[in-house]
Amino acid sequence: MRTSVGIIGAGPAGLLLAQLLQRQGVDSVVLEARGRAEIESTVRAGVLEPGTVELLTEAGAGERLQSQGQTHRGIELAFGGSRHRIDLYALTGRAITVYAQHELLKDLIAARLEAGGGLVFDSPVTALESFDGGGPARVHYRDAGGERVLECDFIVGCDGFHGIARQALGEREPPWQRQYPFAWFGILAASPPSASELIYACHERGFALLSTRSPTLQRLYFQCAPDDSVDAWPDARIWDELQARVPAVDGQSLRQGEILQKNIIAMRSFVARSLRRGRLFLAGDAAHIVPPTGAKGLNLAAADVRLLASALAAYFRDGGETALLDYSRRALRRVWRAEHFSWWMTGLLHAFPDASPFMRQMQRAELDYLSSSPAAATVLAENYVGMGWDWG
Ligand code: APR
Ligand code: PHB
Repeated sequence: MRTSVGIIGAGPAGLLLAQLLQRQGVDSVVLEARGRAEIESTVRAGVLEPGTVELLTEAGAGERLQSQGQTHRGIELAFGGSRHRIDLYALTGRAITVYAQHELLKDLIAARLEAGGGLVFDSPVTALESFDGGGPARVHYRDAGGERVLECDFIVGCDGFHGIARQALGEREPPWQRQYPFAWFGILAASPPSASELIYACHERGFALLSTRSPTLQRLYFQCAPDDSVDAWPDARIWDELQARVPAVDGQSLRQGEILQKNIIAMRSFVARSLRRGRLFLAGDAAHIVPPTGAKGLNLAAADVRLLASALAAYFRDGGETALLDYSRRALRRVWRAEHFSWWMTGLLHAFPDASPFMRQMQRAELDYLSSSPAAATVLAENYVGMGWDWG
Protein backbone atom coordinates (compact mmCIF):
# COMPACT_ATOMS: atom_id res chain seq x y z
CA MET A 1 0.00 0.00 0.00
CA ARG A 2 1.16 3.55 -0.75
CA THR A 3 -0.30 6.87 0.44
CA SER A 4 0.73 10.48 1.09
CA VAL A 5 0.17 10.48 4.87
CA GLY A 6 0.19 7.35 7.04
CA ILE A 7 -1.82 8.02 10.21
CA ILE A 8 -1.48 5.76 13.26
CA GLY A 9 -4.60 5.64 15.44
CA ALA A 10 -8.32 6.20 14.80
CA GLY A 11 -9.00 8.35 17.87
CA PRO A 12 -10.27 11.92 17.56
CA ALA A 13 -6.82 13.16 16.39
CA GLY A 14 -6.24 10.56 13.65
CA LEU A 15 -9.77 10.57 12.23
CA LEU A 16 -10.12 14.35 12.22
CA LEU A 17 -6.70 14.72 10.59
CA ALA A 18 -7.67 12.27 7.83
CA GLN A 19 -10.87 14.21 7.14
CA LEU A 20 -9.22 17.64 7.14
CA LEU A 21 -6.52 16.35 4.77
CA GLN A 22 -9.09 14.89 2.44
CA ARG A 23 -10.91 18.25 2.31
CA GLN A 24 -7.63 19.79 1.15
CA GLY A 25 -6.99 17.12 -1.46
CA VAL A 26 -4.39 15.05 0.43
CA ASP A 27 -4.87 11.28 0.62
CA SER A 28 -4.09 9.30 3.77
CA VAL A 29 -4.59 5.90 5.39
CA VAL A 30 -5.53 5.49 9.06
CA LEU A 31 -4.28 2.30 10.75
CA GLU A 32 -6.05 1.39 14.01
CA ALA A 33 -5.14 -1.42 16.43
CA ARG A 34 -8.64 -1.87 17.87
CA GLY A 35 -11.93 -2.93 16.29
CA ARG A 36 -14.62 -0.49 15.20
CA ALA A 37 -17.19 -1.68 17.78
CA GLU A 38 -14.78 -1.12 20.67
CA ILE A 39 -13.84 2.37 19.50
CA GLU A 40 -17.47 3.32 19.03
CA SER A 41 -18.45 2.25 22.55
CA THR A 42 -15.59 3.33 24.83
CA VAL A 43 -16.82 6.16 27.06
CA ARG A 44 -14.36 9.05 27.30
CA ALA A 45 -14.42 12.85 27.19
CA GLY A 46 -17.40 15.07 26.38
CA VAL A 47 -16.74 18.83 26.34
CA LEU A 48 -16.12 20.55 22.99
CA GLU A 49 -14.88 24.12 22.59
CA PRO A 50 -16.62 26.20 19.89
CA GLY A 51 -13.43 26.04 17.77
CA THR A 52 -13.50 22.23 17.93
CA VAL A 53 -17.16 22.19 16.84
CA GLU A 54 -16.20 24.45 13.92
CA LEU A 55 -13.43 22.06 12.84
CA LEU A 56 -15.61 18.97 13.14
CA THR A 57 -18.27 20.64 11.04
CA GLU A 58 -15.65 21.55 8.43
CA ALA A 59 -14.56 17.90 8.46
CA GLY A 60 -18.08 16.73 7.59
CA ALA A 61 -18.84 15.36 11.07
CA GLY A 62 -20.97 18.18 12.43
CA GLU A 63 -24.53 17.14 11.67
CA ARG A 64 -25.45 14.98 14.69
CA LEU A 65 -23.24 17.11 16.89
CA GLN A 66 -25.24 20.22 15.95
CA SER A 67 -28.60 18.55 16.56
CA GLN A 68 -27.82 16.35 19.59
CA GLY A 69 -24.97 18.18 21.32
CA GLN A 70 -26.05 20.24 24.33
CA THR A 71 -25.03 23.90 24.42
CA HIS A 72 -23.94 25.08 27.89
CA ARG A 73 -23.46 28.79 28.50
CA GLY A 74 -22.03 28.40 31.97
CA ILE A 75 -20.52 26.04 34.53
CA GLU A 76 -20.84 26.00 38.30
CA LEU A 77 -18.23 25.89 41.02
CA ALA A 78 -19.44 24.34 44.29
CA PHE A 79 -17.58 24.90 47.56
CA GLY A 80 -18.32 25.75 51.18
CA GLY A 81 -21.83 24.31 50.86
CA SER A 82 -23.01 26.58 48.03
CA ARG A 83 -22.79 26.90 44.24
CA HIS A 84 -21.50 29.79 42.13
CA ARG A 85 -22.12 30.15 38.41
CA ILE A 86 -19.38 31.15 35.97
CA ASP A 87 -21.26 32.70 33.07
CA LEU A 88 -19.03 31.63 30.18
CA TYR A 89 -21.23 33.29 27.59
CA ALA A 90 -21.51 36.66 29.32
CA LEU A 91 -17.77 36.72 29.98
CA THR A 92 -16.52 35.54 26.57
CA GLY A 93 -19.43 35.57 24.11
CA ARG A 94 -18.91 31.84 23.62
CA ALA A 95 -20.43 28.58 24.90
CA ILE A 96 -19.30 24.94 25.07
CA THR A 97 -21.00 21.86 23.61
CA VAL A 98 -21.40 18.63 25.58
CA TYR A 99 -21.34 15.62 23.23
CA ALA A 100 -19.90 12.18 23.98
CA GLN A 101 -16.52 11.43 22.40
CA HIS A 102 -17.59 7.96 21.23
CA GLU A 103 -20.59 9.50 19.42
CA LEU A 104 -18.16 11.89 17.77
CA LEU A 105 -15.98 8.95 16.74
CA LYS A 106 -19.03 7.27 15.17
CA ASP A 107 -19.63 10.44 13.14
CA LEU A 108 -15.99 10.76 12.05
CA ILE A 109 -15.81 7.08 11.07
CA ALA A 110 -19.06 7.34 9.07
CA ALA A 111 -17.80 10.49 7.30
CA ARG A 112 -14.48 8.82 6.49
CA LEU A 113 -16.07 5.68 5.08
CA GLU A 114 -18.64 7.66 3.13
CA ALA A 115 -15.86 9.70 1.51
CA GLY A 116 -14.11 6.44 0.55
CA GLY A 117 -10.99 7.29 2.58
CA GLY A 118 -8.52 4.68 3.86
CA LEU A 119 -9.33 3.43 7.37
CA VAL A 120 -8.23 0.00 8.57
CA PHE A 121 -9.33 -1.45 11.93
CA ASP A 122 -7.79 -4.38 13.84
CA SER A 123 -4.36 -3.48 12.44
CA PRO A 124 -1.76 -2.64 15.09
CA VAL A 125 1.31 -0.78 13.87
CA THR A 126 4.45 -2.61 14.98
CA ALA A 127 7.37 -0.51 13.69
CA LEU A 128 8.21 2.74 11.86
CA GLU A 129 11.11 3.01 9.46
CA SER A 130 12.92 5.40 7.09
CA PHE A 131 11.16 8.58 8.21
CA ASP A 132 14.47 10.30 8.80
CA GLY A 133 16.05 10.08 5.34
CA GLY A 134 15.17 9.99 1.65
CA GLY A 135 12.72 7.60 0.00
CA PRO A 136 9.30 6.65 1.31
CA ALA A 137 8.73 6.23 5.04
CA ARG A 138 7.57 2.72 6.00
CA VAL A 139 4.89 1.78 8.52
CA HIS A 140 4.85 -1.89 9.49
CA TYR A 141 1.54 -3.28 10.72
CA ARG A 142 -0.22 -6.57 11.28
CA ASP A 143 -3.69 -7.60 10.18
CA ALA A 144 -5.59 -10.89 9.94
CA GLY A 145 -3.59 -11.73 6.81
CA GLY A 146 -0.17 -11.26 8.45
CA GLU A 147 2.60 -8.63 8.35
CA ARG A 148 2.15 -5.68 5.98
CA VAL A 149 3.87 -2.41 5.08
CA LEU A 150 2.34 0.99 4.29
CA GLU A 151 4.65 3.33 2.35
CA CYS A 152 4.06 7.06 2.70
CA ASP A 153 5.62 10.51 2.42
CA PHE A 154 4.81 11.42 6.03
CA ILE A 155 3.80 9.52 9.17
CA VAL A 156 1.63 11.07 11.87
CA GLY A 157 1.47 9.35 15.27
CA CYS A 158 -2.07 9.90 16.61
CA ASP A 159 -1.75 6.72 18.67
CA GLY A 160 -2.40 8.09 22.16
CA PHE A 161 -0.25 8.09 25.27
CA HIS A 162 0.68 4.39 25.07
CA GLY A 163 1.30 4.30 21.31
CA ILE A 164 4.56 3.53 19.55
CA ALA A 165 5.17 6.73 17.56
CA ARG A 166 6.64 8.69 20.47
CA GLN A 167 9.12 5.87 21.18
CA ALA A 168 10.04 5.74 17.48
CA LEU A 169 10.68 9.47 17.53
CA GLY A 170 13.32 8.70 20.16
CA GLU A 171 13.57 11.77 22.32
CA ARG A 172 17.03 12.63 23.56
CA GLU A 173 15.78 14.44 26.65
CA PRO A 174 13.11 13.26 29.11
CA PRO A 175 9.60 14.70 28.62
CA TRP A 176 8.11 17.32 30.93
CA GLN A 177 5.71 15.61 33.29
CA ARG A 178 3.91 15.59 36.61
CA GLN A 179 1.95 12.87 38.41
CA TYR A 180 -0.90 13.81 40.78
CA PRO A 181 -1.48 12.07 44.12
CA PHE A 182 -5.06 11.09 43.15
CA ALA A 183 -7.13 9.68 40.29
CA TRP A 184 -10.72 10.14 39.06
CA PHE A 185 -13.41 7.51 39.48
CA GLY A 186 -15.86 7.89 36.57
CA ILE A 187 -19.36 6.46 36.29
CA LEU A 188 -22.06 6.45 33.65
CA ALA A 189 -25.49 6.46 35.32
CA ALA A 190 -28.98 6.00 33.90
CA SER A 191 -30.61 9.00 35.55
CA PRO A 192 -31.92 12.44 34.64
CA PRO A 193 -29.50 15.36 35.10
CA SER A 194 -29.32 16.83 38.61
CA ALA A 195 -28.44 20.28 37.29
CA SER A 196 -28.70 22.06 33.93
CA GLU A 197 -24.95 22.80 33.75
CA LEU A 198 -21.71 21.06 34.75
CA ILE A 199 -20.87 21.31 38.45
CA TYR A 200 -17.23 21.23 39.57
CA ALA A 201 -17.24 20.61 43.34
CA CYS A 202 -14.37 21.20 45.76
CA HIS A 203 -14.99 19.41 49.07
CA GLU A 204 -12.76 18.38 51.94
CA ARG A 205 -13.51 14.73 51.09
CA GLY A 206 -12.23 15.43 47.56
CA PHE A 207 -13.25 16.77 44.16
CA ALA A 208 -16.46 15.75 42.33
CA LEU A 209 -17.84 16.62 38.89
CA LEU A 210 -21.35 16.28 37.50
CA SER A 211 -21.40 16.12 33.72
CA THR A 212 -24.01 14.82 31.35
CA ARG A 213 -24.48 12.83 28.17
CA SER A 214 -28.23 13.00 27.46
CA PRO A 215 -31.52 13.65 29.31
CA THR A 216 -31.37 10.05 30.59
CA LEU A 217 -27.63 9.43 30.93
CA GLN A 218 -25.19 11.21 33.26
CA ARG A 219 -21.40 11.14 33.49
CA LEU A 220 -20.16 11.71 37.05
CA TYR A 221 -16.67 11.70 38.53
CA PHE A 222 -15.11 11.88 41.96
CA GLN A 223 -11.54 12.04 43.19
CA CYS A 224 -10.22 8.70 44.46
CA ALA A 225 -6.82 7.28 45.48
CA PRO A 226 -4.38 6.70 42.58
CA ASP A 227 -4.18 2.98 43.43
CA ASP A 228 -7.93 2.57 44.05
CA SER A 229 -9.82 -0.26 42.35
CA VAL A 230 -13.29 -0.37 40.80
CA ASP A 231 -14.11 -3.42 42.98
CA ALA A 232 -13.66 -1.36 46.15
CA TRP A 233 -16.61 0.82 45.11
CA PRO A 234 -20.00 -0.90 45.21
CA ASP A 235 -22.83 1.31 43.89
CA ALA A 236 -24.12 2.40 47.32
CA ARG A 237 -20.68 3.61 48.39
CA ILE A 238 -20.32 5.63 45.16
CA TRP A 239 -23.65 7.42 45.63
CA ASP A 240 -22.93 8.13 49.33
CA GLU A 241 -19.61 9.70 48.35
CA LEU A 242 -21.10 11.81 45.55
CA GLN A 243 -24.00 12.94 47.75
CA ALA A 244 -21.53 13.99 50.45
CA ARG A 245 -19.38 16.03 48.07
CA VAL A 246 -21.98 17.82 45.93
CA PRO A 247 -24.30 20.28 47.66
CA ALA A 248 -28.04 19.90 47.10
CA VAL A 249 -29.42 21.66 44.00
CA ASP A 250 -32.55 23.71 44.82
CA GLY A 251 -32.99 21.67 47.98
CA GLN A 252 -32.82 18.44 46.02
CA SER A 253 -30.04 15.90 46.45
CA LEU A 254 -28.26 14.27 43.52
CA ARG A 255 -30.52 12.16 41.29
CA GLN A 256 -29.36 8.56 41.38
CA GLY A 257 -29.88 5.74 38.89
CA GLU A 258 -28.46 2.45 37.73
CA ILE A 259 -24.68 2.61 37.31
CA LEU A 260 -23.90 1.27 33.85
CA GLN A 261 -20.11 1.67 33.78
CA LYS A 262 -17.28 2.39 36.20
CA ASN A 263 -13.67 3.27 35.42
CA ILE A 264 -10.63 4.88 37.01
CA ILE A 265 -8.76 7.62 35.16
CA ALA A 266 -5.11 8.42 35.94
CA MET A 267 -4.21 12.08 36.42
CA ARG A 268 -1.04 13.31 34.79
CA SER A 269 0.46 16.25 32.96
CA PHE A 270 2.88 15.33 30.18
CA VAL A 271 4.48 17.12 27.21
CA ALA A 272 6.90 15.55 24.72
CA ARG A 273 10.01 17.66 24.04
CA SER A 274 9.43 17.69 20.31
CA LEU A 275 6.49 16.81 18.08
CA ARG A 276 8.59 16.06 14.99
CA ARG A 277 11.57 14.16 13.73
CA GLY A 278 12.20 14.05 9.99
CA ARG A 279 8.90 13.12 8.37
CA LEU A 280 7.34 11.73 11.58
CA PHE A 281 4.96 14.00 13.53
CA LEU A 282 3.05 13.54 16.80
CA ALA A 283 -0.45 14.89 17.54
CA GLY A 284 -3.00 14.56 20.36
CA ASP A 285 -2.44 12.34 23.39
CA ALA A 286 0.69 10.84 21.77
CA ALA A 287 2.32 14.25 22.25
CA HIS A 288 0.77 15.59 25.45
CA ILE A 289 -1.58 14.70 28.30
CA VAL A 290 -3.54 17.05 30.53
CA PRO A 291 -5.44 16.11 33.69
CA PRO A 292 -9.14 16.11 32.71
CA THR A 293 -10.16 18.93 35.09
CA GLY A 294 -9.97 21.59 32.36
CA ALA A 295 -11.71 19.40 29.72
CA LYS A 296 -8.92 20.15 27.24
CA GLY A 297 -7.61 16.75 25.96
CA LEU A 298 -9.89 16.30 22.98
CA ASN A 299 -9.80 20.00 22.10
CA LEU A 300 -6.01 20.06 22.07
CA ALA A 301 -5.95 17.02 19.79
CA ALA A 302 -8.27 18.87 17.38
CA ALA A 303 -6.12 22.02 17.46
CA ASP A 304 -2.93 20.00 16.72
CA VAL A 305 -4.38 18.34 13.65
CA ARG A 306 -5.83 21.61 12.36
CA LEU A 307 -2.28 22.98 12.18
CA LEU A 308 -0.81 19.78 10.83
CA ALA A 309 -3.45 19.31 8.12
CA SER A 310 -2.88 22.79 6.72
CA ALA A 311 0.92 22.44 6.94
CA LEU A 312 0.82 19.10 5.07
CA ALA A 313 -1.63 20.47 2.51
CA ALA A 314 0.70 23.44 1.85
CA TYR A 315 3.57 21.01 1.30
CA PHE A 316 1.64 18.90 -1.21
CA ARG A 317 0.34 22.02 -2.95
CA ASP A 318 3.63 23.80 -3.60
CA GLY A 319 6.41 21.97 -1.77
CA GLY A 320 6.61 24.65 0.94
CA GLU A 321 8.01 23.30 4.21
CA THR A 322 7.83 26.42 6.38
CA ALA A 323 4.55 25.48 8.11
CA LEU A 324 5.72 21.89 8.70
CA LEU A 325 8.94 23.15 10.28
CA ASP A 326 6.91 25.49 12.47
CA TYR A 327 4.33 22.87 13.59
CA SER A 328 6.01 21.87 16.86
CA ARG A 329 6.51 25.46 18.02
CA ARG A 330 3.01 26.62 17.13
CA ALA A 331 1.22 23.57 18.55
CA LEU A 332 3.25 23.65 21.76
CA ARG A 333 2.29 27.25 22.48
CA ARG A 334 -1.40 26.27 22.82
CA VAL A 335 -0.43 23.01 24.55
CA TRP A 336 1.43 24.88 27.29
CA ARG A 337 -1.48 27.28 27.79
CA ALA A 338 -3.78 24.27 28.25
CA GLU A 339 -1.23 22.48 30.45
CA HIS A 340 -1.11 25.47 32.75
CA PHE A 341 -4.91 25.85 32.83
CA SER A 342 -5.50 22.14 33.51
CA TRP A 343 -2.83 22.07 36.25
CA TRP A 344 -4.32 25.20 37.81
CA MET A 345 -7.93 23.90 37.73
CA THR A 346 -6.69 20.63 39.25
CA GLY A 347 -4.94 22.46 42.10
CA LEU A 348 -7.94 24.71 42.64
CA LEU A 349 -10.49 21.94 43.09
CA HIS A 350 -8.84 18.79 44.50
CA ALA A 351 -8.05 17.74 48.05
CA PHE A 352 -4.28 17.19 48.10
CA PRO A 353 -3.36 14.57 50.72
CA ASP A 354 -0.35 16.62 51.88
CA ALA A 355 -1.99 20.08 51.81
CA SER A 356 -1.30 22.12 54.95
CA PRO A 357 -4.18 24.02 56.62
CA PHE A 358 -2.63 27.21 55.16
CA MET A 359 -2.72 25.81 51.62
CA ARG A 360 -6.38 24.84 52.06
CA GLN A 361 -7.12 28.46 53.01
CA MET A 362 -5.30 29.61 49.86
CA GLN A 363 -7.48 27.33 47.77
CA ARG A 364 -10.60 28.68 49.44
CA ALA A 365 -9.46 32.29 48.93
CA GLU A 366 -8.98 31.67 45.21
CA LEU A 367 -12.40 30.03 44.83
CA ASP A 368 -13.96 33.00 46.63
CA TYR A 369 -12.14 35.41 44.28
CA LEU A 370 -13.23 33.50 41.16
CA SER A 371 -16.85 33.48 42.24
CA SER A 372 -16.93 37.19 43.15
CA SER A 373 -14.71 39.01 40.64
CA PRO A 374 -15.62 39.16 36.93
CA ALA A 375 -11.94 39.77 36.13
CA ALA A 376 -10.92 36.53 37.87
CA ALA A 377 -13.85 34.58 36.40
CA THR A 378 -12.93 35.78 32.90
CA VAL A 379 -9.52 34.09 33.18
CA LEU A 380 -11.25 30.79 33.87
CA ALA A 381 -13.94 31.36 31.22
CA GLU A 382 -11.53 32.36 28.43
CA ASN A 383 -9.45 29.23 28.94
CA TYR A 384 -12.45 26.94 29.40
CA VAL A 385 -14.12 27.94 26.12
CA GLY A 386 -10.71 27.75 24.43
CA MET A 387 -8.10 30.23 23.25
CA GLY A 388 -8.55 31.61 19.73
CA TRP A 389 -6.69 30.27 16.70
CA ASP A 390 -4.05 32.98 17.12
CA TRP A 391 -2.76 30.69 19.91
CA GLY A 392 -1.51 28.18 17.31
N1 APR B 1 -1.29 0.84 16.06
C1 APR B 1 -2.50 1.33 15.68
N2 APR B 1 -3.29 2.05 16.50
C2 APR B 1 -2.85 2.32 17.73
C3 APR B 1 -1.57 1.86 18.20
C4 APR B 1 -0.79 1.09 17.31
N3 APR B 1 0.41 0.61 17.65
N4 APR B 1 -1.42 2.27 19.49
C5 APR B 1 -2.54 2.96 19.81
N5 APR B 1 -3.40 2.98 18.77
C6 APR B 1 -4.74 3.61 18.71
C7 APR B 1 -5.60 3.37 19.93
O1 APR B 1 -6.24 2.10 19.87
C8 APR B 1 -6.57 4.52 19.87
O2 APR B 1 -7.74 4.20 19.17
O3 APR B 1 -4.61 5.02 18.67
C9 APR B 1 -5.81 5.61 19.13
C10 APR B 1 -5.46 6.79 20.00
O4 APR B 1 -6.63 7.48 20.34
P1 APR B 1 -6.76 8.38 21.66
O5 APR B 1 -6.10 7.70 22.80
O6 APR B 1 -8.20 8.74 21.80
O7 APR B 1 -5.88 9.67 21.34
P2 APR B 1 -6.19 10.99 20.50
O8 APR B 1 -6.80 10.69 19.19
O9 APR B 1 -4.93 11.78 20.56
O10 APR B 1 -7.33 11.72 21.33
C11 APR B 1 -7.06 12.49 22.41
O11 APR B 1 -9.23 11.85 23.21
O12 APR B 1 -10.15 10.54 24.93
C12 APR B 1 -9.52 11.66 24.61
O13 APR B 1 -8.24 11.99 26.60
C13 APR B 1 -8.23 11.90 25.23
O14 APR B 1 -9.18 13.91 25.01
C14 APR B 1 -8.07 13.16 24.57
C15 APR B 1 -8.30 12.88 23.14
C1 PHB C 1 -17.05 14.71 30.70
O1 PHB C 1 -18.22 15.01 30.44
O2 PHB C 1 -16.63 13.55 30.52
C2 PHB C 1 -16.13 15.73 31.28
C3 PHB C 1 -16.57 17.02 31.49
C4 PHB C 1 -15.72 17.96 32.03
C5 PHB C 1 -14.42 17.62 32.36
C6 PHB C 1 -13.97 16.32 32.15
C7 PHB C 1 -14.83 15.37 31.59
O3 PHB C 1 -13.59 18.54 32.91
